[in-house]
Amino acid sequence: MEHRFDELEQAIKTAVLDTAEAVERFRIQYLGQKQGQIKRLMKQIKDIPPEGRKTFGLKVNALKECVEGRLTEAKEHLGSQRTADGPAIDLTLPGRRPLAGSLHPLTQTRREIERIFGQYGFTVEEGPEIEDDWHNFTALNFPPDHPARDMQDTFFLETPSPDQEKVLLRTHTSPVQVRVMKEQPPPIRVIVPGRVYRNESISYKSYCLFHQVEGLYVDEGVSLADLKQVLHAFARAIFGEDVQMRFRPSFFPFTEPSAEVDIWWPLPDHPEGGRWMEILGCGMVDPNVLDNVGIDSERYTGYAFGMGIERIAMLRYGISDIRTLYENDIRFLDQF
Ligand code: DAH
Repeated sequence: MEHRFDELEQAIKTAVLDTAEAVERFRIQYLGQKQGQIKRLMKQIKDIPPEGRKTFGLKVNALKECVEGRLTEAKEHLGSQRTADGPAIDLTLPGRRPLAGSLHPLTQTRREIERIFGQYGFTVEEGPEIEDDWHNFTALNFPPDHPARDMQDTFFLETPSPDQEKVLLRTHTSPVQVRVMKEQPPPIRVIVPGRVYRNESISYKSYCLFHQVEGLYVDEGVSLADLKQVLHAFARAIFGEDVQMRFRPSFFPFTEPSAEVDIWWPLPDHPEGGRWMEILGCGMVDPNVLDNVGIDSERYTGYAFGMGIERIAMLRYGISDIRTLYENDIRFLDQF
């Protein structure tokens, strides 16, 4: 028996365990429930005469531990081999794409507008979204209680007492024209991007808040031809060389003459093949406005414009409903 133990131990220690199959065969050979050699020896323990039983038991146990030790060691080895050179990692698979964020289409459009006007020498200014009545209306030549104020359905804010100046959410970026002209002497050449608010009925092309970019150029000898030229150059830069643009007479209290610019919006399902979409209002700064801010209207003239960023984004990207720009639906935003 003594000799059997030595022989078994030798066999266990020298068995070659280089594949998963060899390991499994080794396990069954020694620890298999029915035929396993160690199992068989264990069953014999009870038949050994009492004097030798303990030693016998200890030896069987030592062999069992030896088998288990080799099994653990072999499995670890095979496991590490697989990650080192086995087929578990397929290097030809495409990598996981990192989840990169992107800029909102309105931000992209605003930046593009800023870039284009930057090339024409315009610098960027900003102003407050909460405005007083004077900057938003009065200084811009809206007469008191004149229906022109109703052109822009205003969100008024509560003021502590009725005789205080009215405070409101600005209805356009034009009040920043007034702020800039009060601070800087001509020549002035600025654009003003920003958010504006109107208590309007909501539709595919109008929302209660939206974004505008105001433009203002004041200097000696600025003419309507300059205004038309800069807007046409802008339209070609942002929509492409073959853009169709319409310059249409209009009315604003703060410009004289005034105009609106429409861009042709091709729509395949439309009976006329598309429709005109208004993107901006513009005109020559009314001399009254220059006088309100202390600029000599005999010496200086200026042009101004205010464009809707949403409308431009809709035309650029073929977005048919302005509201999708505010829903933050990832399936929509992922496309930009
Ligand atoms: N503020 C006008 C609006 O929101 C747009 C506008 C028209 C701006 C004429 C101007 C301008 O600067 O000259 O409807």
